[in-house]
Amino acid sequence: MDFPVFQVINYTLILIVFIIFIRYIWGVFFDDNYQPAEWKYAMDRGHISKKLKRLERQYPDKVRFFNWWFQVGRLKQDNVPGDFAEVGVYKGDSAQVIHHCDPGRHFHLFDTFTGFSMRDLATETGPAATYTPENFSDTTINKVLQHIGGNENLRIYPGYFPDTAGIVGEFRFALVNLDADLYNPTRAALDFFYPRLSPGGMILIHDYNHQWPGIVKAVDEFLMLIPESLVRIPDMDGTVMIIRNKEC
Ligand SMILES: C[S@@+](CC[C@H](N)C(=O)[O-])C[C@H]1O[C@@H](n2cnc3c(N)ncnc32)[C@H](O)[C@@H]1O
Repeated sequence: MDFPVFQVINYTLILIVFIIFIRYIWGVFFDDNYQPAEWKYAMDRGHISKKLKRLERQYPDKVRFFNWWFQVGRLKQDNVPGDFAEVGVYKGDSAQVIHHCDPGRHFHLFDTFTGFSMRDLATETGPAATYTPENFSDTTINKVLQHIGGNENLRIYPGYFPDTAGIVGEFRFALVNLDADLYNPTRAALDFFYPRLSPGGMILIHDYNHQWPGIVKAVDEFLMLIPESLVRIPDMDGTVMIIRNKEC
């Protein structure tokens, strides 16, 4: 009998490649092993919107995503009053997730929407010193609003922060997301928002790591002035959180 050994090897190899391909596709679209039990439980009970489910699939930093989701859940559960705010919106990726975690909160969005200011860049060190005003300038308010796909609770304040902050000076905040990359706006935002946090409210600061000395300096300096601890999150770029004491 003529045994087609090469044909068998060929078919076996094709089968192996096919199985690897299917496993890869399955992993991208259906693997949910990394999802926290509480998220799966909430999904099973229909408590997660279609939009938020889609965002979870797409958002690259899963730890960051689920941290926002858990924190917004905590604020709801503890009845912490106040609005949401973000400094450093760019095209609206992080704002989109935060808004869809609780579309019922007013959400104030601060950015130049024209990129960094020379006022801030001039004093930067580390990789941020190589930034130019062109970085992050390829965005517009309309594109951001379209991208977020949100409701009337979104408020946009274009311009240099903190010059734009005064208009929300009378408000109280439950969650503030800082993602401005540089020392000046980060320090100014901590000074501005911390006294306006509700008890139990929080500020999240992105990029607290050795590559962003301006962020580390702003946060460390500010922490010396307040009676709170820094909570570190093991997401990709090192988010840290300041939670305002409930008794304040
Ligand atoms: C890293 S991007 C924000 C990324 C965004 N959170 C996201 O999820 O894609 C930093 C943003 O901070 C903004 N920014 C930096 N300094 C600022 C300032 N002083 N006032 C207003 N916006 C500022 C920049 O225009 C830029 O859009």
